[in-house]
Amino acid sequence: KRPAGAPDKELARKITKVGIVGAGLMASQFALLFVRRLQVPVVMTDLDQARVDKGVASVHEELDKLAEKGRLDSDNHSRLKALVTGTTDRSQFADCDWVIEAVFEEVGVKQQVFADFEDIVAEDAVLATNTSSLSVEEIGSKLRHPERLVGFHFFNPVAVMPLIEVVNAPATNDVTLATAMAVAKDLKKTAVITRDRPGFVVNRILAKVLGEAMHAVETGTPISVVDHALDPVGLPMTPFELLELVGLKVGAHVLESHHAPFPDRFFESEHLNALADANAKLIKRDGKGRPGGY
Ligand code: CAA
Repeated sequence: KRPAGAPDKELARKITKVGIVGAGLMASQFALLFVRRLQVPVVMTDLDQARVDKGVASVHEELDKLAEKGRLDSDNHSRLKALVTGTTDRSQFADCDWVIEAVFEEVGVKQQVFADFEDIVAEDAVLATNTSSLSVEEIGSKLRHPERLVGFHFFNPVAVMPLIEVVNAPATNDVTLATAMAVAKDLKKTAVITRDRPGFVVNRILAKVLGEAMHAVETGTPISVVDHALDPVGLPMTPFELLELVGLKVGAHVLESHHAPFPDRFFESEHLNALADANAKLIKRDGKGRPGGY
């Protein structure tokens, strides 16, 4: 059965090479997933060689770990390692059919990335943004061909979380959307098509939970009480564990980006901004990284 709003899957472009802009933590998780599931060359780039090398090394290490655990045989281990490369020479993206960015969550930065890469890739390459709360339409507004830009929003940890929000921006065409749906399927993820609205669907709900949790703490409820309020619901993580997983800066940004368009409906937390700036820890952890108090 075709997912709600999905175009004919026959329209999807075949992906023979993946380009990843950014070589940080999120980008490395993408590279690992793409190479394992699509088994095509994956090239990563970043601002300088040191960042590129670090990103590629971390993907190679994860492949080593999979091999050690017996999840990759030695042939596939060396083959997949060889498929993941890094470069600061952007011309190596010329033959990528799919370019996804995982760069700083600021609209101007993402606009510039896509403007730069649009000049490098083929006319029919698909461009994907992993933005979690910016407008895909605005990110694509500087493109000559905004119809080939789509939102492709992963969740943390990328290897484990099953969902991808495929964001259908006003300019996104059916070939682009069909390709994004096919890529999500090849990655063995569940894809839902969302409208291009602040927070799409998941972060809009998450912003409510995290915003209310911060508000309760700021108005005097102990963090230990707030953090366990949802335990009876059976979520895999408490709100503050989740905030630490996605990063306090990202969490603060999610709240801000909902408060700005909907000030009456969403809470913006100055306290969380300050904690993020101070690199604060919300939850104490034991030697094995497990939560152990506040
Ligand atoms: N990277 C890769 N794999 C990981 C991982 C990581 N960081 N963390 C855990 N895993 C894997 C483990 O290897 C294990 O795999 P196997 O079963 O194949 O061995 C599996 O996940 C389960 O791990 P654990 O048993 O160690 O731990 P757990 O059962 O406590 O699960 C969890 C860990 C999957 C992270 C779980 O706590 C969870 O689902 N948490 C909720 C995460 C969530 O809600 N994410 C969304 C965040 S919002 C977001 O990302 C959007 C945004 O834009 C802000």
